[in-house]
Amino acid sequence: MNDIQWYPGHMTKAKRQMQEDLKLVDLIIELADARIPAASRNPDIRQLGQGKARLIVLNKADMADEAVNRAWLNAFQKEGYTVLLADSRKRSDLNKINALIQEACRERIERNKRRGFKNKPIRAMVAGIPNVGKSTFINTVAGRASAKTGNQPGVTKGKQWIHLKNGLDLLDTPGILWPKFEDPHVGELLAMTGSIRQDILNRDELAVRLIRLMQDEYPGVLADYYKIEETDDPAEFLQRIAEVRNCVAKGNELSVDKAIQILLEEFRNGKVGRISLEKPGDAAL
Ligand code: G4P
Repeated sequence: MNDIQWYPGHMTKAKRQMQEDLKLVDLIIELADARIPAASRNPDIRQLGQGKARLIVLNKADMADEAVNRAWLNAFQKEGYTVLLADSRKRSDLNKINALIQEACRERIERNKRRGFKNKPIRAMVAGIPNVGKSTFINTVAGRASAKTGNQPGVTKGKQWIHLKNGLDLLDTPGILWPKFEDPHVGELLAMTGSIRQDILNRDELAVRLIRLMQDEYPGVLADYYKIEETDDPAEFLQRIAEVRNCVAKGNELSVDKAIQILLEEFRNGKVGRISLEKPGDAAL
């Protein structure tokens, strides 16, 4: 979990860095979190990425609802995007990446051919918000542990390229995009999934919102997981988690705080099950 805090200065730096790096590439491989594909994307990518081919990777698909994953795949494809659902930690999930890059860059490849640059490599960069899995993706694609980078925007290093099969060159430093914090609901979704620090928001409120969201979209799932009886009252729900998990504080009193911590952490780590917090139609792509 990274601890990056975004301030206007960081965002300006990250944007400048991204604009510099973009000059070097033909293709942006944009990573989004499959559990929140709209909230985990950056609002400026459309403008930043103008004129570049784009491939969208819905990452952490292993933690998201399979039926909703398929719906997102269709929705993005309908918008004309090339898309991949992936668990970036698994090499086998990224087997199709070469073919998809070729597909996303078809126009560029054909233009290169027409101009006589038959073997010109396609250059690509990975971009996405912190913690979405950029380094994991690069490491898996590259097949070695080479992409460990700090998450601090503006850290400059010599540009390194990872040479892949079929004339593909991947920039080994990912572009760091900032999330859209202005929308409080987006902030909540990012905190629930662990893209931003939970303590940025009020944790009690976040837990209550999560319980409500789960009860609306996945009725019974949280109660089953915690082996407690369902209740409409989120405070009572947390109390019950505290009881079954023996959350006690000083003086042997039940600690709802500890229950909140457990709930948020277990949800973030996917222990509760495969859950998607956004569906196509909830938000614009
Ligand atoms: P970043 O470069 O975009 O900041 O993300 P990074 O690759 O560091 O990945 C962040 C965390 O997400 C890592 O967990 C990583 O293992 C996990 N991750 C990346 N891709 C996937 C995926 O497709 N599926 C799942 N389930 N996890 C993925 P970590 O090091 O344990 O960090 P954390 O859990 O403390 O956040």
